Amino acid sequence: MAIGLDDVVAAETALSDVDGLAGRLIIRGRSLDELAGRETADGMLGLLLGDAFDPAPTGTELGAARAEIFARFKDKLADLAQLPVYDGVRAAVAQLPDDDTAETALLLIAAPAVLVPALIRTQAGTPAVAPDAGVAHAADILHVLLGRAPTMPEVNGLDTYLVTVADHGLNASTFAARVVASTQAGLTSSVLAAYGALKGPLHGGAPGPVLDMIDAVGAPERAEPVLQAILDRGERLMGFGHRIYRVRDPRADALKGALGRLQRTERLHLALAVETAALKLLRAKKPDRPLETNVEFFTALLLDALGFPREVFTAVFAMGRTIGWVAHAREQALSGRLIRPKSRYVGPMPREAA
Ligand code: CMC
Repeated sequence: MAIGLDDVVAAETALSDVDGLAGRLIIRGRSLDELAGRETADGMLGLLLGDAFDPAPTGTELGAARAEIFARFKDKLADLAQLPVYDGVRAAVAQLPDDDTAETALLLIAAPAVLVPALIRTQAGTPAVAPDAGVAHAADILHVLLGRAPTMPEVNGLDTYLVTVADHGLNASTFAARVVASTQAGLTSSVLAAYGALKGPLHGGAPGPVLDMIDAVGAPERAEPVLQAILDRGERLMGFGHRIYRVRDPRADALKGALGRLQRTERLHLALAVETAALKLLRAKKPDRPLETNVEFFTALLLDALGFPREVFTAVFAMGRTIGWVAHAREQALSGRLIRPKSRYVGPMPREAA
């Protein structure tokens, strides 16, 4: 009995493989080491959606989809901005067509890329910036966020992030997307299910609290006592531990590399001290259970350095992961198999059966 489905194989996929013992992530035959820092968000369209759509969508089409999203929602930004950014993006996504076409797939991928920056700016009382359909995806996201042309290290940093989080086996949100797709519902329904699953702190909600934790530490010499106090309260150290990885999450190093290329500040020095102290304390607390740095620790620092406020980090994760959700939803729908597991009943029995 696998409560929580640990180690249960619930799907076959040609999209990505997470090897938790070797600490290796493979995306369609390419290792993350090979992709991170080299491949772009636009390049991932051909890699991840090649089996889902013929021909695979292109970066040019994604640019057109960003423009289309802005046109559809520019008059609704003030209303959507009344909600937290994650919920505002999800509410907008719910208004997209619910079918299985490449056009809808591109709108779903474009929606958070356009709306996260637009809603941040609207909430801050600054006018939203219209996307430029002719530039690369990561550069355009930073342009509409920052209101200026981004630097090359900034574009490389965001591309590295978007590539690194694009797909990751049968994580909770991708599984949720596949469950819905297995009923032959449309792509938008599948992606909305994934938004729900990603939101929780045990999945995509961790990076904001990572930054809070680093801020609470404040100075490298305070790292051990502050983290020890968190553990003593029975709380978890955000950005550490993983259901699959028993060694260091390879995505952590990919993002750490991008961060190092972007920023060498006191904050990075502090973060490295927090990481060292956390690993030491977790080893002492759980000598038999490897608890290593996961993707969210360096996500927090990288997104912060790129200018995203911590409240929207989970929405930026959705920006990167939607391509994986769409690819998995199509793969599941094309397999034609309904996902319908069993539960074990542990409630009371009717009197006659007792
Ligand atoms: N800090 C302190 N203790 C921990 C931590 C942590 N970060 N992670 C696990 N443990 C302990 C846990 O308390 C448990 O102890 P006990 O057996 O005494 O109850 C033991 O280690 C095993 O934990 P588990 O909950 O069985 O492990 P899991 O596979 O269910 O949890 C996890 C994986 C990511 C939910 C968990 O490690 C965690 O809560 N980490 C902190 C939150 C976080 O960083 N989330 C982002 C996850 S990575 C993003 C993604 O890929 O989705």
